[in-house]
Amino acid sequence: MILSSLDLTDAQFHKVSDLVYRHSGINLKNGKEALVRARLMKRFRVLGMDSVDAYLDFVNTRAGEDELTRMIDVMTTNKTSFYREFAHFQYLQDVVLPQLKTKRIRFWSAACSSGEEPYSIAMTLKEHLTDIERKDMLILATDISTRMLEKAQQAIYPKETLKDVPTSYLQKYFVRMPDAGDTYQVHASVRSLVRLAGLNLMNSWPMKGPFNVIFCRNVMIYFDRNTQEQLINRFWEILEPGGHLFVGHSEGLSSISHKFKYIRPATYRK
Ligand SMILES: C[S@@+](CC[C@H](N)C(=O)[O-])C[C@H]1O[C@@H](n2cnc3c(N)ncnc32)[C@H](O)[C@@H]1O
Repeated sequence: MILSSLDLTDAQFHKVSDLVYRHSGINLKNGKEALVRARLMKRFRVLGMDSVDAYLDFVNTRAGEDELTRMIDVMTTNKTSFYREFAHFQYLQDVVLPQLKTKRIRFWSAACSSGEEPYSIAMTLKEHLTDIERKDMLILATDISTRMLEKAQQAIYPKETLKDVPTSYLQKYFVRMPDAGDTYQVHASVRSLVRLAGLNLMNSWPMKGPFNVIFCRNVMIYFDRNTQEQLINRFWEILEPGGHLFVGHSEGLSSISHKFKYIRPATYRK
């Protein structure tokens, strides 16, 4: 059966948005019915299901755990791009990198989506970090979405998504894929700096840090104020003193209580 639309009662919408909120912190409760309906339909088409109640019963069972993960995954918004919010990369190159004198360098891209953000960081480090060969350097890149992590792992991108990558980097850090349309793979020397892993920011974090820099951009807008506040304070704990936190440009921290020093828009320092 091919579903063309899905009826979702208020009660069903609240059950779904509640589940998503409890598992991921993503807050769909206010005015996101159309989004929830459209994204649930994607799962229903794959599963050949048409009963919301039966689906909800299933995802609440142990056998439905994997489906719950997939449901959360389709509810995520994954828009990203290379060198998005370029001011952060400029600041990284001009101010942050010249100050990083230690051998051990740790960055965290905390909601990395399909990889454009951590690979942009890696290229910037390769270009602007002095003595890079002698550094013990790693960019941890995590996301809740397994679909996006698979894309990040492949690191293959259509040409039109590379428009903000500096031309000289295109030549150095991308390899044209044979027989795959006009697509390019990030070079192994850049990929090797990035370690991808599944991580739900709401759960406990297995890594100890400390990190020199954290990018957590364009994900906190999906969280409510309490969740944002808890997250920002956890970032504080895992950053080294003097470490930097970059958030999305629409995600200023002005309405939440935290200990970071404001540096410039969407840029904070411990
Ligand atoms: C809009 S993308 C932002 C990507 C990138 N940081 C950027 O600014 O271009 C938001 C990402 O946050 C991820 N996300 C949402 N909730 C999450 C959670 N609880 N834990 C980890 N990642 C989450 C989504 O899967 C999605 O890939």
